Amino acid sequence: MHDFRYRNGVLRCEGIPLDRLARAHGTPLYVYSRATLLGHYRRLDRAFASVPHLICFSVKSNANIAVLRTLARAGAGFDIVSGGELERVRAAGGDPRRVVFAGVGKTGEEIALAIRAGILFFSVESAGELEAIAALAGRLGKTARVSIRVNPDVDAGTHRHVTTGRAENKFGMDLGSARAAYARAAAHPRLEPVGVQMHIGSQITETAPYVAAIRRIRPFVRDLAGAGIRPAYLDIGGGMGIVYREETPATAARFAAAVLPEVADLGMTIILEPGRFIAGNAGVLLTRVLYLKEGGGRRFVIVDAGMNDLIRPSLYGAFHSIVPVRRLRRRRIVADVVGPVCESADCFAACREIPAPRPGELLAVMGAGAYGFSMASNYNARRRPAEVLVSGARHALVRERERWADLMRGERIPAFLGGAPRKTARRPR
Ligand code: LLP
Repeated sequence: MHDFRYRNGVLRCEGIPLDRLARAHGTPLYVYSRATLLGHYRRLDRAFASVPHLICFSVKSNANIAVLRTLARAGAGFDIVSGGELERVRAAGGDPRRVVFAGVGKTGEEIALAIRAGILFFSVESAGELEAIAALAGRLGKTARVSIRVNPDVDAGTHRHVTTGRAENKFGMDLGSARAAYARAAAHPRLEPVGVQMHIGSQITETAPYVAAIRRIRPFVRDLAGAGIRPAYLDIGGGMGIVYREETPATAARFAAAVLPEVADLGMTIILEPGRFIAGNAGVLLTRVLYLKEGGGRRFVIVDAGMNDLIRPSLYGAFHSIVPVRRLRRRRIVADVVGPVCESADCFAACREIPAPRPGELLAVMGAGAYGFSMASNYNARRRPAEVLVSGARHALVRERERWADLMRGERIPAFLGGAPRKTARRPR
């Protein structure tokens, strides 16, 4: 479900023709629909309305502060995995008390930042991390709220790179270690065990893995209660799949219908951490065709976006539908749509049947709103693209295209290579 549609033969985002945005801001260009972001958020929010719940948008999927502001205003909390993401949430006006912090490698600096900000809880991924949080909370004279990220050892049936809830994955703790961690947290004056967290993977199209995971966690929660530990939050993570091609992922309603009977009687506040479900189909990557080329029996459409702008096809072999911004009567060809980066993996689509494009024409790579810009890099010294947010008939540049100088920011040539002395040279003692 999204708000990118053709009108009079031109693909629009809500009320805005995409060719107009490309002319105004250049390509490659990410374009996001505020209506789609909010639509997905609200659908999930409504589906869980019968229980106390909090939807924490997964910042890693799309960290643009205008996107975060859109969701913060709608009442969302945020799932973060770094100090940088916390800073982004704060810059967007998000409420730190609605922030949950996951990740296996939180540094002392990040933990201290989050304790000071007063986040809702840390999703603790190891016994060592729990001790680090306790020590820092002590030093800061605060209590830290924690959940233990439990690894339920279920197969989410998704790509091996994005499966996280198997015993062999690096995430979370097995139930035995988790039990010990709760006992430790309950006994520690600086720790407050407030939740139980799980996250089993990403782009999960079925509800069964969630149900299986929750069923593993339920007896565990009951045991905790027996030991006098009653966490108020059950965080079932993110991972809900979307349509990239012909998947038939569970809708918000079907997801809730499967999950709610498993959790309703626990009396806990349910937390969800969707990223892709909210942002995935809310964004496209606009790119212009540079050249057409044939060789070795293959036909190439060379575009101005590369794997540095959208790495999902190269990294996961992910499918993204690619459509012309202007629908013209064209014969269909089978071609590889490739970028300018000097890697054979810089390929958005291999042997894809598409209406024959011409140089200068615009293509839209669909489903690029999640893990698109947020995974972009400067590889090949390419400037990362600009981002535009559309809302009805309005649109705004929410991130400028990087400039050449941005590529070298913070770099310097040392004096021993003939570089100029640093302007802010430290005074000798
Ligand atoms: N919560 C935690 C703890 C996570 O690790 C993740 C994603 C999410 C929530 C959000 O998952 P989502 O609802 O977006 O599936 N780069 C990959 C996806 C990596 C997901 C990592 N963790 C991709 O482009 O497919």
